[in-house]
Amino acid sequence: MVICACEKSFSTPLLKELDQKLGGLVRKAQRNGEFSAKVDEQILFQPAGHLPAERVLLVGLGAAKEVTAEKIRCAAGHAIQMIAEKKFGQMAFALPTCSEEMDYAAQIQAVTEGLLLAGYRYDLFLDEKTKTLRKLPKVVTLTIEAKQDKKQIEAIIEKAQKLCRAVTLTRDLVNAPGNIKSPVFLAEHARAAADDSKLECKVLGQKELEKEGFGALLGVAQGSAREPKLIVLKHHGGRKDDAPVALIGKGVTFDSGGISLKPGEKMDEMKMDMGGGAAVIGTMLAASLLELPVNLVGIIPAVENMPSGTAYRPGDILTSLSGRTIEVLNTDAEGRLILADALTYAKRYQPKLVIDLATLTGACIIALGHQATAVLGNDQDLVQSLLNAGEKSGERLWQLPLWEEYDQQIKSSVADVKNTGGRPAGTITAAAFLKKFANDFRWAHLDIAGTAWRDQDQPYIPKGGTGVGVRLLIEFLHDLAAAE
Ligand code: BES
Ligand code: MN
Ligand code: ZN
Repeated sequence: MVICACEKSFSTPLLKELDQKLGGLVRKAQRNGEFSAKVDEQILFQPAGHLPAERVLLVGLGAAKEVTAEKIRCAAGHAIQMIAEKKFGQMAFALPTCSEEMDYAAQIQAVTEGLLLAGYRYDLFLDEKTKTLRKLPKVVTLTIEAKQDKKQIEAIIEKAQKLCRAVTLTRDLVNAPGNIKSPVFLAEHARAAADDSKLECKVLGQKELEKEGFGALLGVAQGSAREPKLIVLKHHGGRKDDAPVALIGKGVTFDSGGISLKPGEKMDEMKMDMGGGAAVIGTMLAASLLELPVNLVGIIPAVENMPSGTAYRPGDILTSLSGRTIEVLNTDAEGRLILADALTYAKRYQPKLVIDLATLTGACIIALGHQATAVLGNDQDLVQSLLNAGEKSGERLWQLPLWEEYDQQIKSSVADVKNTGGRPAGTITAAAFLKKFANDFRWAHLDIAGTAWRDQDQPYIPKGGTGVGVRLLIEFLHDLAAAE
């Protein structure tokens, strides 16, 4: 039995009864400071026959007024981690009245997310024995307040399960190694997601991309033996004539840097350079499973960035789909090139707004570390809505400026624009580059370089691909649909 408790929960009937059954151990722990329900505090009891449960784990949530969905997700994550280590086959989970401010439904959603997301592991390439070293409980029972409507709670849990299924897909795609992960692989998984839902899927290959004139995307792809793809997913949830929201995700299945080769250290992590594309596939799947009442189009330019005899070179000038020319000063600034063509392509769908997600710049990690995704855009209302969705989902964003003055840094003397702006404000100049291809619509850019991948376990995010973006965008789209 796991009980998430805030500092006020000691006076609830549940904890009082527990204390009584355990002969006052709960109160004692509170008095001697062993467990006073602070954030991250835990205490494990062995009721030894006094209760049907074999163990009782109390997890602290801190002050009642300061309980947030994020704290509940983390507490649930900590709990399942411990249960998995001890290999219990089943567990019950209780959330005594914690915060008057927080809506009960939001608490239930947060618990479900924390449990499901913390239990994730990428174990596709591990043998059965290693896999079973850590066993998740097969059954989790959630105990709820008697006054709550059970049917309604079940519906919330079901929704959270669908959302987590999409986050899991995103993580699986990001964690897949570069040898099996190609643009074709991404396209196949997008198609499989469409088959499992009501999404529509269309994929453009090399020939079609050439015919359309995706010069920037093809420039990046030309060094790889693997064929590039442009993946398009559609969700029809809104009115027929409603303009769609376009979601664009960078899908570089491996970023070696190309001729401007990256240093060897940590280059393995560059299999995660399709984190934006994976988030778009996940979000589209979630939107379809949850039947979100909005129209969406997801666009994923998918390429591999490799050095070879056919690779594009520093100094090359590419003609993009928009007709604008781009001077390539560094072949490692490839993400913005494929996104430029995807942004131009998005115009065909006459979107009401466009959001792109990309593991775009190392500079973003220098600026914000792994705690926040950078957001920049040409419409402050859109940016603000995304910031709000970030707070609610726990996938936090921080805005960087996109002042005109930064355009100076990407001026070229031989083409319309160049693909790097030097070291200062690297995240901003990358966005300034994208802005040139996004002037026909409301647009926001999310740089997830620091948040798409973690090299250390977090309470409900195991190391590796995080699945960042899916819960954020679903929150955002949910709010958007409600406002309309
Ligand atoms: N995919 C990288 C950015 C990145 C770095 C993502 C580290 C996640 C972790 C991107 O394509 C890149 O190489 N950007 C360059 C741009 C530079 C050449 C202007 C960078 O950030 O160094
Ligand atoms: Mn790169
Ligand atoms: Zn990249």
